[in-house]
Amino acid sequence: MDHFHYRNRVLYCEDVAIPELANQYGTPLFVYSQATLLHHLTQLQQAFAPADPIVCYSVKTNGNLSICKLMAGNGAGFDVTSGGELYRALRAGAKGDHIVFAGVGKTDEEMRYGLNSNVLMFNVESEAELFALGEVAKSMDRRAPVALRVNPALPPKTHVKTDTSVKGTKFGLDIDSVLEVAQKVVGHPHLEIIGLHMHLGSPILSAQPYREGAEKGVHLIEKLRQQGHAIRFLNMGGGFGIHYRKQEALPAQAFAEVILPAVKASGCRLVLEPGRFIVGNAGVLISRVLYTKESGGRRFIIQDAGMNDLIRPTLYDSFHRIWPVVPDDSVPVMPDDFEAPIVGTVYQDVVGPVCESGDFLAKERALPLMKRGELLCTFSAGAYGMAMSSNYNSRLRAAEVLVTGDTHRLIRRRETFSDLVAAEEACI
Ligand code: LLP
Repeated sequence: MDHFHYRNRVLYCEDVAIPELANQYGTPLFVYSQATLLHHLTQLQQAFAPADPIVCYSVKTNGNLSICKLMAGNGAGFDVTSGGELYRALRAGAKGDHIVFAGVGKTDEEMRYGLNSNVLMFNVESEAELFALGEVAKSMDRRAPVALRVNPALPPKTHVKTDTSVKGTKFGLDIDSVLEVAQKVVGHPHLEIIGLHMHLGSPILSAQPYREGAEKGVHLIEKLRQQGHAIRFLNMGGGFGIHYRKQEALPAQAFAEVILPAVKASGCRLVLEPGRFIVGNAGVLISRVLYTKESGGRRFIIQDAGMNDLIRPTLYDSFHRIWPVVPDDSVPVMPDDFEAPIVGTVYQDVVGPVCESGDFLAKERALPLMKRGELLCTFSAGAYGMAMSSNYNSRLRAAEVLVTGDTHRLIRRRETFSDLVAAEEACI
């Protein structure tokens, strides 16, 4: 469920008309709904409540400080994957004991930063990293809390670029080697193995992988305890899918049903690292049509948002619903099925201004003919939109606005030309 809807053929976010926001803040513009953000966070907290979970919002998904602050203020912890994300989480008001530090390539400096911030645990992904962390902890006369990340070697379940738990990815310890590695640090004075972590991939539209992963996890936890490690946490990562096309995603409850029994069997406290589930459908990208043209037998809508604003279609061939912000009455207000023929539309490519043929938000998409100056909405852009945006072609990164009820405020101003060169200016 989200809080983007049409009233009299005008798109609203909660009680604010989107054209108002586009006029006030300009385009391209990311617009987020606070009610949607909190609704999704609450859904997870409630579905998993029997396991007293620490729901660690995955900062990589959308690290905007105001969004992180909202998460911290509503009981979420944080999953961070770099020193930069740790900085964001702390700036947003997170306490170290609600932060898990993940990532396959942490530097010594990042480990020190994590230890100094008293993070709840480091998700460790290789033997080499484990011993490096031991050294860093030793140099600080500390004992580092660790969750070993296991790659449970499950069948493929999502896009090859984001499937992290098939055999042969760079992520985690091979399931066959976890115990061997763990054995080497039994009684280590500067490392304490307190958890088992896995992240299966993203986005996942079925509960089955979680069932299989969790079962393998319970088995490993038993063995780790036999080795003498006091395992207290089972971290099942993130990856819960959302509705990009229509109603294809599962509710939080469906994932809880397969994960909770394993948590109970393990006697652990549950940690989750959801990102997309919370923020994906809480954000949209608003763009303005610059031109339309026909070329090589195709029709193009050229608008002011490009791959530098939302790279998912280019990178993963991902599908995002796109529809006019103010559709006229020759088309449905909002189609039920964006992949079926839609009355009043023709097939068009929605592209941006970036100098690459890969710069598109949609290909062969049923849309009405658009006029210069009209607004388009790209839905489900809250996750991995702004977070993966760039200054490619020296384009300025978009502004971000947070709506709550009938009020709105800027949570990131649009960049300026001087922002573009700020880090270089002093070096000329
Ligand atoms: N935990 C770990 C260890 C992760 O690697 C990720 C995502 C998450 C949690 C959060 O996953 P989520 O709940 O958001 O699905 N850029 C891609 C997705 C990459 C996911 C990377 N890891 C996309 O736009 O689809």
